[in-house]
Amino acid sequence: MAALVTLEGIEGCGKSTQAGLLAAHLEDRGLETVLTCEPGGTRVTAEIRRLLADPASELDPRAELLLFLADRAQHVTEVIRPALERGAVVICDRYSDSTIAYQCHGRGHERALVDELNAWAAGQLVPDLTLWIDCEIEIGLERARVHSGGPGDRFEAEPTAFHQRVRDGFAGCCKDDPERVRRIDGNRDQASVTASVLATVDEFLASQSGAAR
Ligand code: TYD
Repeated sequence: MAALVTLEGIEGCGKSTQAGLLAAHLEDRGLETVLTCEPGGTRVTAEIRRLLADPASELDPRAELLLFLADRAQHVTEVIRPALERGAVVICDRYSDSTIAYQCHGRGHERALVDELNAWAAGQLVPDLTLWIDCEIEIGLERARVHSGGPGDRFEAEPTAFHQRVRDGFAGCCKDDPERVRRIDGNRDQASVTASVLATVDEFLASQSGAAR
């Protein structure tokens, strides 16, 4: 059953761990599952990811936006669409809502412009389900610091106010499209978050297969 499921949230919210556990769960259920991420989900875009993460990259905000969109265009064409056409469930760690949260709310790009560019870069491909793993800024940044074991990437180095705007941006995506974007409380222990993630996705897939009958 083809479906694009994306995971979103601030730094250190735990979505990458949850994406891995979700993929393992769906494989156990016998579903063809593709686990991928943005930026850097292809060989070509691994180079874009390196540029975006490097604290030494003095990127103009427009160049940053365009690099994320270039990453998405390549990723959709090379990985996501072919997998969906095979009937796979694609789990993508970050996608277009990150561009709204980080580049519009974080950096201040105009929303209408980003919406148009996002749709164009993704070839109009919208996720079927988005799990927003929401957690407090302090909790997320502390986890991210422990995880990277150092100063972290360009985004982790941003001030708290930036991360607050990004979190507000995800909240806005959830409010605008509550059917697609589901908030999962990421302040809890990992097992509780996983239970919510698996239940939400299982319920969604069951509703889809019911609709297909
Ligand atoms: P990554 O190391 O994947 O971070 P995380 O583990 O938190 O997902 O780095 C991706 C960074 O890129 C992350 O800080 C969010 C940012 N980002 C954007 O600003 N815009 C985007 O469209 C995407 C996909 C990511």
